Amino acid sequence: MSQAQEQTHSQAQASPAGQSARTDGRAPYEDAFQRRARADAAARGTSWSKPMPARPVVAVAGATGAVGREMLKCLDKLHFPASEVRALASARSAGTRLPFGDGELIVREMTPESFAGVDIALFSAGAGVSRQMRQAVTEAGAVMIDNSSAFRMEDDVPLVVPEVNPYDVAWHNGVIANPNCTTIQMVVALQPLRALGHIDRIVVSSYQSASGAGAKGMNELRTQTREVLDGEPPTVKAFQHQIAFNCIPHIDVFHDDGYTKEEWKMVVETKKIFGDDTVRVAPTCVRVPVMRCHSESINLEFDRAVSVQDVRDAIVRGEHVCLEDDPANNVYPMPAMHAGSFDTFVGRVRRDPTVDGDRGVALWVVADQLLRGAALNAVMIAQLLLPDAARTGEGEDAREE
Ligand SMILES: NC(=O)c1ccc[n+]([C@@H]2O[C@H](COP(=O)([O-])OP(=O)(O)OC[C@H]3O[C@@H](n4cnc5c(N)ncnc54)[C@H](OP(=O)(O)O)[C@@H]3O)[C@@H](O)[C@H]2O)c1
Repeated sequence: MSQAQEQTHSQAQASPAGQSARTDGRAPYEDAFQRRARADAAARGTSWSKPMPARPVVAVAGATGAVGREMLKCLDKLHFPASEVRALASARSAGTRLPFGDGELIVREMTPESFAGVDIALFSAGAGVSRQMRQAVTEAGAVMIDNSSAFRMEDDVPLVVPEVNPYDVAWHNGVIANPNCTTIQMVVALQPLRALGHIDRIVVSSYQSASGAGAKGMNELRTQTREVLDGEPPTVKAFQHQIAFNCIPHIDVFHDDGYTKEEWKMVVETKKIFGDDTVRVAPTCVRVPVMRCHSESINLEFDRAVSVQDVRDAIVRGEHVCLEDDPANNVYPMPAMHAGSFDTFVGRVRRDPTVDGDRGVALWVVADQLLRGAALNAVMIAQLLLPDAARTGEGEDAREE
């Protein structure tokens, strides 16, 4: 924590919960829920004692997949100080060459022995593979940062979005979970708005791209688009229905209450990341024929009056959030424009007049879910695990001595 952050943190802690919010934007508003979450994190402790080297060995498990390939790019673009990067996938891909930095990596088959000597294992090979490998990874002394839904809601697994709850990495016991992609981009966009008051209720509809279903989803959208344009019947394999020229209000399995598991994840993961059981979330998740980037229409209900201008100002000050909001000139975020971007884009900020007392605000949010919702978030968590010197760049010199 920088000196400035420490100062604003203690100032915010001193202000009683429920009183007027900080509006200078220098630090997130710390209401009772955030303070409790931070205190809980500090109190939990961890049984994990292995120190992280300044130049860790990193394994990317699922390196040939849609997320895994982006993880390799993020490690390179963020200059992650790895002493070695291992690309792992199934036996099908062993020997495949993947670009990495100025060179390439040769993919190896993932086995329990693959993790010997590894310090950080970035997993994006599906929940089943994560469950199979968890013990081998942690017994090898590596911290698993997992993109699947396998462990997210386990009590001893932190669910981390670095801009929101970085302090939660402190209590991991060998596994840290990356939240669902739809949840990540929503909480990154909402985090600066928590400075304005408590968010009581969120109504969110997602427009999720085909790449959210991985490489097979992207291939299906390409293939079906050609098939439909050529007048042929679409081949349906990756999704429940035709995705080309269609929208499917069904992502993951249905639960008994009529919501899908994807929607349930947005509800429970938002509460866990915010450390706030009182925030209510009503989601509808929809697959749309977009190749990359998820979009979300979000209606917020605050516990107090919030002006549209305050919301815009808070977004401008937010970490890794960009305001793109000039309707008079047709400016608002769109998925086709933001593939490959690390940021989360917010536009169409307006009053929701159906909420009394000027407490309602509506937004439109777009982010590259392969990056922001998966690969980038995982690599940012890995950065949080580095010793301080390595994080600030001082590690480079220290290592050469
Ligand atoms: N796509 C997204 O937007 C997104 C966002 C957030 C989280 N996630 C999560 O990230 C994970 C991967 O998603 P993805 O979209 O990247 O999927 P994907 O494109 O289908 O890639 C899956 C990867 O897992 C590997 N794999 C599959 N079975 C394996 C096995 N038995 N042993 C070793 N490796 C195996 C595949 O290797 P081969 O090439 O050898 O088959 C491939 O590298 C999933 O848990 C998903 O829920 C995805």
